[in-house]
Amino acid sequence: MKAPLQSKIFRIVAEQAALINVKSYVIGGYVRDFFLKRSCTDIDIVVEGNGMEVASAVGSILKARVTLFKKFGTAMMCYKGMEIEFVGARKESYRSDSRKPIVENGTLEDDQKRRDFTINAMALSLAREDYGTLTDPFNGMDDLKRKIIRTPLDPDTTFSDDPLRMLRAIRFAAQLDFSIESDSFASIVRNASRIHIVSQERITVELQKIMAAPKPSKGFILLEKSGLLSLLLPQIASLKGVETMEGRGHKENFSHTMEVLDNVASESDNIWLRWAALLHDVGKPSTKHFDKELGWTFHGHDFIGSKMIPGIFRKLRLPLGEEMRYVQKLVQLHLRPVALVNEVSDSGVRRLLFEAGEDLDDLMLLCRADITSKNPRTVRRHLENFEQVSKKMARVEEKDAIRNFQPPISGEMIMKTFGLPPCREVGLIKDYIKEAILDGKIGNNLEEARQLMLERARELGISEVNA
Ligand code: CTP
Repeated sequence: MKAPLQSKIFRIVAEQAALINVKSYVIGGYVRDFFLKRSCTDIDIVVEGNGMEVASAVGSILKARVTLFKKFGTAMMCYKGMEIEFVGARKESYRSDSRKPIVENGTLEDDQKRRDFTINAMALSLAREDYGTLTDPFNGMDDLKRKIIRTPLDPDTTFSDDPLRMLRAIRFAAQLDFSIESDSFASIVRNASRIHIVSQERITVELQKIMAAPKPSKGFILLEKSGLLSLLLPQIASLKGVETMEGRGHKENFSHTMEVLDNVASESDNIWLRWAALLHDVGKPSTKHFDKELGWTFHGHDFIGSKMIPGIFRKLRLPLGEEMRYVQKLVQLHLRPVALVNEVSDSGVRRLLFEAGEDLDDLMLLCRADITSKNPRTVRRHLENFEQVSKKMARVEEKDAIRNFQPPISGEMIMKTFGLPPCREVGLIKDYIKEAILDGKIGNNLEEARQLMLERARELGISEVNA
């Protein structure tokens, strides 16, 4: 089989490699994506010889900067939005305690053998005599057609050489909607504990890619089945299972979470909203309780769950700034909209609008996604309640404009009015006004807020300057 490699870059690599009498190939992800008709901006070139020499020659023709990694014998070049990596064909062997291989020069075949999956081991020639010809010693093309992830060698060798590949297998399965061939999967199960030699940063890169997949549940279900989930995210693994007391079972929280995650993913590419979906019920296992009258309850799982988020983000080396606070907020608030269905006054709605602020739409998307049940009548009833709450929120927001609410009296105004330095009393007065507005005791305007400020200050024994 031949592939029409039209791009100028391939022609130039071919010419330059020919000039120094070495064979070069495009290999790996680019070839896979080429046949899958997916766009790919990373190109890996393998040279049966010195990769850095070819890279330098190509760089000077294209006037592109080449970075040489002499220690590894590789080179990297950026050209027109493409990242091109050049490497000499190599043979690798690994020690059991490290991902760092012992490397020797090798042939294309040696290089293909050391790769992770058959679909990633295909190479296209860049030599003049067979330009574009596919070398596919492990039938990667068949696997591509049958949508299968399979290791080229005995999977125990491939995975123990580099345990990150277990996660890559699952990530590709989710990303491309492929299945993992049964021997390869059985080997992941056997080797799962070896994941501990992989750095958390690399693990998290793969988790993020799983999260970004069209149906992230596919990846998380495979992680669970392989035993990797309980090593990487035990808090999610422990959502699995149903306990029964007095003949009553509760919702199976892992599959529910998977459904919520896919519901959110089908509506939004926001990776942090997807994390919030994965983690929304993470507080359930530790709050689970059986009550003879109420049955199973998970009281406070929203609060406990939100408290668990920083620990999880820290362990996964996810960002601890606004992304984490956003996830925490959504986990904490995820029960609130639906709980408002029976509330007659507007104050609960106002409070939620204030707390959710600019994340309200995301919160509502999560809450809608959280409505799952095998019983269509239950789903319909919950959806009706949800619609009712949505309307109520829209009405209150239109009337009171709470969502991006800034109290009409600032801390500075309070300090100026009473001649105060920054102190506790300023905060007390400010909060009092905010609470009164959210509770609907006064309107959201300067006049009423000013009046209340004076009253509260009087109660605190503070008098106006020049009063
Ligand atoms: N590779 C490998 N084992 C790894 C990582 C990579 O064998 N742990 C090989 C595979 O042949 C892969 C190639 O190196 O195709 C390039 O790796 P990388 O750029 O990380 O992945 P891609 O397959 O290109 O896919 P993606 O860009 O989606 O990560």
